Amino acid sequence: MTGSVPIDPHLLVLFGATGDLSRRKLLPALFRLLRSRGFEDRTHVLGVGNSRRSDEDFRQMAVEAFTEAGFDREEIEEWCLDCLSYQSLSEGFDGLADRIAGLENAHGLTGNRAFYLAIPPEAIEGTLEGLAGSGLDSASGWIRLVIEKPFGVDLESAEELNRSLHARFSEDQIFRIDHYLAKETVQNLLVFRFANPIFESSWNRDRIESVQITVAETIGIEGRAGYFDKAGMVRDIVQNHMLQLLALVAMEPPVRLDPDSIRDEKVKALRSIYPIGPEAVVRGQYTAGEIDGHDVAGYLEEGGVGPGSTTETFVALRVAIDNWRWRGVPFVLRAGKRLPDRLTQIAVTFKQPPVSLFDADGEGQVNGNELYITLQPDEGFDLMFDVKSPGGVSDVRSRSLRFRYADAFGTLPDAYDTLLEDLLIGDQTLFVRGDETEEAWRIIQLILDGDEVHEYPAGSWGPQEASSLVDRWRVRID
Ligand code: BG6
Repeated sequence: MTGSVPIDPHLLVLFGATGDLSRRKLLPALFRLLRSRGFEDRTHVLGVGNSRRSDEDFRQMAVEAFTEAGFDREEIEEWCLDCLSYQSLSEGFDGLADRIAGLENAHGLTGNRAFYLAIPPEAIEGTLEGLAGSGLDSASGWIRLVIEKPFGVDLESAEELNRSLHARFSEDQIFRIDHYLAKETVQNLLVFRFANPIFESSWNRDRIESVQITVAETIGIEGRAGYFDKAGMVRDIVQNHMLQLLALVAMEPPVRLDPDSIRDEKVKALRSIYPIGPEAVVRGQYTAGEIDGHDVAGYLEEGGVGPGSTTETFVALRVAIDNWRWRGVPFVLRAGKRLPDRLTQIAVTFKQPPVSLFDADGEGQVNGNELYITLQPDEGFDLMFDVKSPGGVSDVRSRSLRFRYADAFGTLPDAYDTLLEDLLIGDQTLFVRGDETEEAWRIIQLILDGDEVHEYPAGSWGPQEASSLVDRWRVRID
């Protein structure tokens, strides 16, 4: 969260180094970050994987990945030569420990180590055991451990994973990633709410009618059937990204801006949520359809999806928060793949005036105030308010006060640049604490696996049945 704290010299041990996430996101983000801070020489990356390959092979793979990400080949080749190495796990964790000691010696590093686990969930326990068994869980410098989502598959497995982590590492060493938290506009929710009293004083059940959160994607499952068909939208998006957004919208002001004060308030908000029952949920699965003028296959036709799978690619659900601020205000969440637009947006609807003066015949009503917070792709805010159109007094129209990040600040940083920086300076604000993730699983535990899925054609806004959860869906697309 801060750009002025120096980055200590360190070794970044990247498990899953040849995987998609490392190649597409992590390595380019790391280099971008170090270069922008002038700290290119403060890191050495040790890629770790199951396959046998030489340092040279790994560097070659990295150079290709960097070039695809738009970096200058010559500049990057030199950096890869100086700062990247590879170790195969076929030589076991003792082999890894020897290699780490050797690299730290050779590069004059003082024992600061970040272990980044970009690996499938089923490989995590073995890796934790291996790290502890070979003494890699202690060093003369700091030790930090990064866990990518999914963090467990249900409440029980998340509790088990937390127990296993806490047996070897303390909470302040554990960095659980939810990349949504590092999106600039998500971070801005705190500033928006707590630096602008005109909004915060209306941010409650007295003034707010309802809150809707939409996470719409045009993409399908992008070849990830092996993971997604077991997960579905509730695990993939609601448990983490959406409940984090909801917590930031619903939380009380933190006493300070330090990581634990913020996370304490988020956990309190999550604790106030009733477990969601099946009656408050509508699931959907896309069938063949059309997006942006292209025909796309239905979910069941995607390679790797089980025959007759009932995994949901769409979910809408109604959440009730039982506390003084929010009791009675519905929060309705909706997430889907193969929807017509890519859009992550929070729509806050304010209450109507108690008396409608501008409605001569007593029918209809003014439009009222709505706030749309768009987190992507066109990041910004729209505050809708009513104005009189020229002419008759009661011709009331809705117009917007509009702010767009791009107009004010240009391009926003990638979430992974931010997350890596925070990892390397040891700021946990944008990482999920163990109790947060358990609370999020508790909320959705009853609705993890449902058999009833309604079909919706790709390119539509989900199954008709979802409209039973709201008076109307609110999204604002320019
Ligand atoms: C990931 C999910 O966590 O988030 C993907 O596993 C999803 O299924 C992705 O597509 C969405 O992230 P973003 O940043 O593109 O909104």
